Amino acid sequence: MLSASTIAHVKATIPVLEQAGPAITAHFYQRMFSHNPELKDIFNLTNQQTGRQQVALFEAIAAYAKHIETPEVLAGAVERIAQKHTSFVVKPEHYAIVGGHLLATLQELAPEVFDEATTAAWAEAYHFLAGIFIDREGTLYEVRRQAQGGWAGERRFRLVAKTPESERVTSFVWEPVDGGAVLSFEPGQYIGIKVHPAGSDYNEIRQYSLSDKSDGRRYRISVKREGNGEQQGLVSNHLHDQVQVGDEVALIPPAGDFFLDQESQSPVVLVSAGVGLTPMMAMLETLCAGNSPRPVHFLHACENAAQHSFKDRVVELAGRHGVNTQVWYREGEALQHSGLMDIAKVKATLPIADGDFYLCGPMPFMASAKSQLLEAGVDEGRIHYEAFGPHVAL
Ligand SMILES: Cc1cc2nc3c(=O)[nH]c(=O)nc-3n(C[C@H](O)[C@H](O)[C@H](O)COP(=O)(O)OP(=O)(O)OC[C@H]3O[C@@H](n4cnc5c(N)ncnc54)[C@H](O)[C@@H]3O)c2cc1C
Ligand code: HEM
Repeated sequence: MLSASTIAHVKATIPVLEQAGPAITAHFYQRMFSHNPELKDIFNLTNQQTGRQQVALFEAIAAYAKHIETPEVLAGAVERIAQKHTSFVVKPEHYAIVGGHLLATLQELAPEVFDEATTAAWAEAYHFLAGIFIDREGTLYEVRRQAQGGWAGERRFRLVAKTPESERVTSFVWEPVDGGAVLSFEPGQYIGIKVHPAGSDYNEIRQYSLSDKSDGRRYRISVKREGNGEQQGLVSNHLHDQVQVGDEVALIPPAGDFFLDQESQSPVVLVSAGVGLTPMMAMLETLCAGNSPRPVHFLHACENAAQHSFKDRVVELAGRHGVNTQVWYREGEALQHSGLMDIAKVKATLPIADGDFYLCGPMPFMASAKSQLLEAGVDEGRIHYEAFGPHVAL
């Protein structure tokens, strides 16, 4: 337990942490990468350049300071972050490195607040928080190592099929080089993939949602080619252009707290935009393969017909299992609806009162879909979502 004095010192730093602007966050990462360049193999360096991930750590630390007397309210966030960390194979020894650079940064840039007593209090509080993550991550690693088909850290996989699903999205099916079974996963979870893209000085790890049902033998992911011109996404373009059937990569076991609740008997509503349909495909395939009696609704928005991934497969499953399918094209000739997804238009077909709603797509899409669902009368507790990057509260 933290003492009253430690808690008081930590709480006094909340304003500094909440206002930790780009100067502080950039200093922290520069400091850490110059002292510990080995961590460049773990962190997404494009997210560093664009500043996307930089704020996440400081926001989480500020939230911890705010709730230091009631850390249980952060349980959901801790679980999400721990799951994400395991997908980068974050290790216990990394916590002291991150904590050291964090406190040194705050002492260097906010010396008036981070005097000796406050720094000592934060060292204690950080150690306590790190212990929570280390325990949970240790349990996750151990459970995955011991389970049927399980492993810890990286395992070599070979590409056995590469199939275009639309203009920019291609599916990749991986089987373990050792020929063994693979860990089963919950539909909606993601795997970590580690590659060394041509032209990059470092290994890069990215997460991809599994896009098919779990079968204990192989994993399918479906990857959108990201970026244009000079700002090409590193890993997605590497996979599209360089990785061919027969090639090997390292995969990190399935993880993630966004998945289909298979205990629930409620109707399921899968709401996606663009490549955000990948976790929905895993859920849809799982529900259909299990002949689930639950009514299923599949709402999808994409740019146009050329970017409509899994069109034929969804039509086939919908025909066989009576799935309510609603599709929007933003441009070009409509298949069903044109423009942006308009939930009010199809509200009468949806289980507003008792459905379980799963959302995935770009943040502005999810923010809009969530507010449309709330407007339609859906209970907030029934809405679940996944961000394809550092989590942002909707
Ligand atoms: C839980 C989870 C699940 C995911 N599931 C999927 C999935 O199923 N399918 C899928 O396709 N993706 C998925 N993603 C996203 C995926 O992990 C990668 O983020 C994505 O493929 C982009 O990686 P990249 O290496 O190609 O691009 P990065 O190199 O990481 O670049 C990211 C973006 O920044 C742009 N960029 C690059 N340099 C700059 C610069 N200097 N300034 C401004 N912009 C720049 C790039 O063009 C690109 O659009 C998921 C992510 C998460 C967290
Ligand atoms: C108590 C300490 C830590 C806190 C509070 C913390 C917090 C966070 C948060 C909030 C995220 C974003 C998660 C998401 O939205 O999905 C994140 C991601 C991440 N964390 Fe941590 N973290 C801590 C320690 C560490 C350590 C020790 C490492 C390993 C060196 C690490 C590596 C990462 C990586 C690689 C990501 C993903 C980054 C990306 O997507 O670019 N973290 N962490």
